[in-house]
Amino acid sequence: MCGIIGYLGERSAAPIIMASLKRLEYRGYDSAGVAIFNEADGQTSVVKSAAKVDTLVERLTEEMPEGRLGIGHTRWATHGRPTVINAHPHTDCHKQIMVIHNGIIENFAELRKDLQARGHVFISETDTEVVPHLIEENDQGDLVAAVRAALTKLRGAYAMAIFSQKDPDLLIGARLNAPLVVGIGDKEWFVASDITAVIPYTKKVLLLGEGEMVSITRLGPEVSTIGGASVKPKIIEVKWDISQAQKGGYPHFMAKEINEAPEAVSNALRGRLTDEGEVTFEEFGLTDRQLLKISNIKMVAAGTSYYAALLGKYIVEDLARIPVEVEPASEFRYRQPIIDQDTLVIGVSQSGETADTLAAIREARERKSKVVSITNVVGSSMALESDGVIYLHAGPEIGVASTKTFIAHLTCLYLLGIRLAAIRHRLAPERLRELTAELKTLPEAVQSVLDRAEQIQALAKKYSGHRNFMYIGRGINYPIALEGALKLKEISYLHAEGYAAGELKHGPIALLDGGFPVFAVATQAATLEKMVSNIQEVIARDAPVIALVTAGDHTLDEIEADRFEVPEVSEFVSPIVNVVALQLFAYFVATERGCNVDQPRNLAKSVTVE
Ligand code: AGP
Repeated sequence: MCGIIGYLGERSAAPIIMASLKRLEYRGYDSAGVAIFNEADGQTSVVKSAAKVDTLVERLTEEMPEGRLGIGHTRWATHGRPTVINAHPHTDCHKQIMVIHNGIIENFAELRKDLQARGHVFISETDTEVVPHLIEENDQGDLVAAVRAALTKLRGAYAMAIFSQKDPDLLIGARLNAPLVVGIGDKEWFVASDITAVIPYTKKVLLLGEGEMVSITRLGPEVSTIGGASVKPKIIEVKWDISQAQKGGYPHFMAKEINEAPEAVSNALRGRLTDEGEVTFEEFGLTDRQLLKISNIKMVAAGTSYYAALLGKYIVEDLARIPVEVEPASEFRYRQPIIDQDTLVIGVSQSGETADTLAAIREARERKSKVVSITNVVGSSMALESDGVIYLHAGPEIGVASTKTFIAHLTCLYLLGIRLAAIRHRLAPERLRELTAELKTLPEAVQSVLDRAEQIQALAKKYSGHRNFMYIGRGINYPIALEGALKLKEISYLHAEGYAAGELKHGPIALLDGGFPVFAVATQAATLEKMVSNIQEVIARDAPVIALVTAGDHTLDEIEADRFEVPEVSEFVSPIVNVVALQLFAYFVATERGCNVDQPRNLAKSVTVE
């Protein structure tokens, strides 16, 4: 969604805001804008661009506005096209109050009508513009009170940063159903959509809770609820540094993040899995006794995380023999799900902020289920609102397409499966030791796929002219086929479908012809022979085949297909190795086609609207 940043301090605000906007651009990138207050002349410079942050930076570099207070926004349009007028900040009738916003004001139409009836003049098509007008209407000299009064009239989701020319030593932030953090520096403060924006300046971060606001003066921040009750601030020390949020010599964040897959596995395992297979999670929140009471599990997630959850079903059911259902979070909440206090609901989300998934876990808690979230973002809404949390420890993921966090999610799901199996005594010690050893060798296996990226690049080059792709997999690699297809379509804009290989003959095979390549995940598996039959059916329809095969396995030797070999690992853990090859294939097809892989069109990293 949108990225927001606000600064109050001793330094020139504009360069800090521009640099922060660049780091927030993954959240939305169709237009951008800043407002900088200059205490010398008491005026605010508002500069906007109907394009990416770079265009704004070019304009600002020509004439850098002076001032030690400012806000900046990078937009993912919801209400109104990405034009200069619709770009944030938005302001009131007298151009005193500056507001930037991430989220959606659901009741904006009626608020706008009422405000217009009372004489307020609107210039944009956005939902956000009602906010400065509402503040203006409630402003009787106390900006904090006016903001509070305005916020209580809003329905929907918001993270906002606000200042007024009349009160230039005050920066206000507020959040409801959208993320906002406060960076605490040396005589300087930041409000931002995420930690990445502020990490070059400070590692001390105040996590603003749901329904809270912060008023920052030159004396520091004060946190309260929107209603006005004072709140004890929750401050954390960030453990990672800015180098992890930079490209580090790679042409794209996505390339860097795919290459971080071995580390993603190691970091997710670190300190959590003993050689004997004992699993501990630091902030899990549920006791063994509570876990033993659980009779069924529901996993809720969206997009790539949904496919990770689908894989979670295979893992947990196989290891712990607990029935698992997986559902897109956007569907779960609106269909009266059958869950109760014996259900464990697991929210799977790299950002921990996806509106659909957040709403689904809230629904689960209302229905008295226990909730655990598996997420990468410390202090994210899902983490704060769950009974327990499993952090991915994958470091920041900036590319819009999830790659290393998918790998980390899978790793955590294996660990969770082992933990649930252990307390139910479902795993023989021998099998447990074997699985532990397999998980620990995964980083090496993944690295060997990465080391042969050039071969995948050559395949991508050969196939990048096609417009349609089919991905097929079986068993535990079926979700990997789905994820392979999603990765390709989101960054290359090509049509790609993922199917269970056995389902192909029940309909989609009608699509195939010489121009419709099929990517088959055909690594060693109990069902490999069946997969070979499915591949034969594809070849009989003249469709070209790219097969992912296990090194040293000769089952497909006689088959007419392009091949990429992955190292031998057990079928059960093979998804982690296989998906890296599919991520690389998508990456190389997209770069071959000249697509912007880090910021694909129409997408945003964390989707905080329903
Ligand atoms: C992943 O490549 C996509 N950008 C998207 O499907 C994403 O997985 C989905 O929006 C869910 O995000 P989350 O993991 O932050 O909840």
